[in-house]
Amino acid sequence: MIEIQHLTKRFGALTAVDDVSFDVARGEVLGFLGPNGAGKSTTMKMVTGFLDPTSGTAKVCGHDVVSDPIGAQRKIGYLPEGAPLYGDMTPRGLLKFVAEARGIPASQRAAAIDRAVSRVHIEEVLNRRIDTLSKGYKRRVGLAQAIVHDPEVLILDEPTDGLDPNQKHDVRELIREMSRDKVIVLSTHILEEVAAVCSRAIIIARGKLRFDGTPADLQAMDPAHGAVSLTIGQAPGTTEALGESLSAIDGVARVEPLDAANGVASFRLYPAEGANVFGPLSALAHERGWEVDHLAVEDGRLDEVFRTVTAGDARS
Ligand SMILES: Nc1ncnc2c1ncn2[C@@H]1O[C@H](COP(=O)(O)OP(=O)(O)OP(=O)(O)O)[C@@H](O)[C@H]1O
Ligand SMILES: [Mg+2]
Repeated sequence: MIEIQHLTKRFGALTAVDDVSFDVARGEVLGFLGPNGAGKSTTMKMVTGFLDPTSGTAKVCGHDVVSDPIGAQRKIGYLPEGAPLYGDMTPRGLLKFVAEARGIPASQRAAAIDRAVSRVHIEEVLNRRIDTLSKGYKRRVGLAQAIVHDPEVLILDEPTDGLDPNQKHDVRELIREMSRDKVIVLSTHILEEVAAVCSRAIIIARGKLRFDGTPADLQAMDPAHGAVSLTIGQAPGTTEALGESLSAIDGVARVEPLDAANGVASFRLYPAEGANVFGPLSALAHERGWEVDHLAVEDGRLDEVFRTVTAGDARS
């Protein structure tokens, strides 16, 4: 559905996007990650035809964005960064305008608008001025204008940025719904969002592709992936003594003491290759009568991995 090959964009001496290649297939929700200035928005602007590449190609459903921009844009819905809208229009007025600009025949416009409106649930604000709406509703209006022509591909640049937690949740829910019949590429700084809605993640930093895989692959890159975390309340004995008992467990390669405060001690146990320490650890805790507050196998911390992959790569 999207084929990007050697895509590059230079602004004077700055290479904002540097030889980036990837494909996106039907059914995928791709999370685009990277520090500030990584080149996420610039890549999206090239795919949506708002910026011409310096070199390389981008195709959407087989249409080259440079040689056949109209063909490509027909297939795309785009929510630009910050979701700019015309504040003095009403959502209804805006959607009519967009439907017309998108070339939807007059006889089908009302139905197309109704469909977009009901998909993002903005029925009750249709006739209010956009600049009087809350940020969450403005974002929904932004999504509605992106889907009015029922595109196969949706490019969403930070769709949940600046929203409160409830609105973030709602917009993610909308994205999940829309992913049933659309390819979605979204950029975000919120790593849990990637795990929550994306089937695949790409990390770029300083314009270069650094990672391409599933969110689970990304989590698995954390050295703590598969480690067992343990918190003991009313810790019997010193952290050192507890640490020693834990190190003695069969299959434990290393024990890392985490914070200890108010009589609570936490540890992370790294198993030796292929070893399962969960069982022996539970048995030891039971035998010693430890008051276990928390015991879990760690999935891996996305923010840790993100930091290692992109450390020191922020750009103005
Ligand atoms: N029109 C432009 N002229 C000059 N430089 C630009 C232009 N647009 C973007 N840049 C630069 O290109 C780099 C990439 O910017 P881009 O907006 O694509 O980053 P981003 O990954 O979207 O970052 P953020 O997470 O902050 O939104 C930055 O250094 C930015 O300053
Ligand atoms: Mg951006």
